[in-house]
Amino acid sequence: MTEKPLNLFAFNFFAPAHLTSGSWREPGDGGLRYTDLQYWKRVARLLEDASFDGIFFADTVGFHDVYKGGVDESLRDAAQYPANDPALLISGMAAVTEHLTFGVTCSLTYEQPYLLARRFSTLDHLTNGRIGWNIVTSYNDSAAKNLGLGEQLGHDERYDLAEEYMEVVYKLWESSLEDDAVVRDTENATYIDPRKVHPIEHKGKYFEVPGIHLCEPSPQRTPVLFQAGASSRGMGFGGKHAEVAFIQATSPELARRSVDKIRQAARDAGRDPYDIKIVALITVVVAPTSEAAQAKYEHYLENATVDGVLARFGGWTGIDLSTYDLDQPLESIETKGVQSIVDMFSKADPNREWTPREIVDFLSIGGTGSTIVGSPQEVVEQLRAWRDVADIDGINLSYATQPAGWEEFIELALPELRKQGIVKPARAVDAKPRTLREKLFPGHARVLDTHPAAAYRRGPNPADEA
Ligand SMILES: Cc1cc2nc3c(=O)[nH]c(=O)nc-3n(C[C@H](O)[C@H](O)[C@H](O)COP(=O)(O)O)c2cc1C
Repeated sequence: MTEKPLNLFAFNFFAPAHLTSGSWREPGDGGLRYTDLQYWKRVARLLEDASFDGIFFADTVGFHDVYKGGVDESLRDAAQYPANDPALLISGMAAVTEHLTFGVTCSLTYEQPYLLARRFSTLDHLTNGRIGWNIVTSYNDSAAKNLGLGEQLGHDERYDLAEEYMEVVYKLWESSLEDDAVVRDTENATYIDPRKVHPIEHKGKYFEVPGIHLCEPSPQRTPVLFQAGASSRGMGFGGKHAEVAFIQATSPELARRSVDKIRQAARDAGRDPYDIKIVALITVVVAPTSEAAQAKYEHYLENATVDGVLARFGGWTGIDLSTYDLDQPLESIETKGVQSIVDMFSKADPNREWTPREIVDFLSIGGTGSTIVGSPQEVVEQLRAWRDVADIDGINLSYATQPAGWEEFIELALPELRKQGIVKPARAVDAKPRTLREKLFPGHARVLDTHPAAAYRRGPNPADEA
């Protein structure tokens, strides 16, 4: 157990609403302005001024069309739909900040590694090293159908492909151009020294990439790698590749089980278990008193609809609860969707059964993460428990309404959380900007030596201070 202060990330989706059903219906909610870059610039400034470490964007290239056999209820509730491309938001948000970092979810199932490597190198340049990639393999058939696969690859095959994918992107990011390849030698009319640029010559089962990377080396080279797989293959993949693992659980005690498994997976992959930073999805509804916080929570619940919640659940899990008795406890079911979400409400806690009605109540605000409702002191105590019991390194803070959910957290809870050392201190006024990796692993702009990407490096790492 560690008593180190938590990293703080905001959590969102480039859509009118993310995890909280009907959040866009709350007066003043920013979801109605989601297509307006001015809104996102304001969010970026808010989080930077409050010394958040970053903002993390979930994403999916599919839509929720399982509940009631179609897409209607997710369209009505704006359940993670419309879904714009979050990678395209980042430059705008980066332009008005210096310290805020960005996690961007991108599926590796539908895009050639050559293109994805270019996009993240470009973002790493434009943000001065403030970028992370949340590696997902996608969980929904709607994406597979519209992206040429017909149906999803089998679960384990997705991870086989992902393994080879990582090999390709590591070669492009770490080994194609040497650190001193870019000479910009005006006298000799040489921008890049061709002797320092190497074709990666990759030929595997899924990909063939003979050539050189399209971008020059960026501050971090490999972006910080996030991942959230929860199956044994998913954890094995994360134990090897993830620098940040993202979890969700109904309590700190249950979160601890996932945390222990992830740290063990890191050990199995020959890494220090604390070289994977573990970040939990949490929503906070805070007000000056417990009663006021509870009243606020009840009020937000009025925005949520059962159909909107179940549309999300259907999309995430592939299970259509419209055909279930709302009061019959959910049994453990095997799914091609996100199995860990089904497990959360069936077998994760042997002492608890969940009916679909209770699942709806739990998911309405903040989705699959835990929601903390209380006075500033109560929020401090509960987050302390998350840090100490669950042994996490940070939180991904979702909202019941945006940006008010973050504003109220910043105003009411954050000062006390910092005073008590639960959350990392605010940045010093004269602090120099750091890369995302340096924030998580002080002194390291590039991957740690024990990370598999490091095996592709050519020579020592001049950017590493440590
Ligand atoms: C906390 C959490 C967050 C996730 N976020 C996303 C996401 O934003 N986009 C996505 O396509 N998949 C997301 N996933 C799905 C995972 O990337 C993965 O596809 C899924 O968990 C199935 O893999 P598994 O069987 O190894 O768990 C998330 C999963 C978890 C547990």
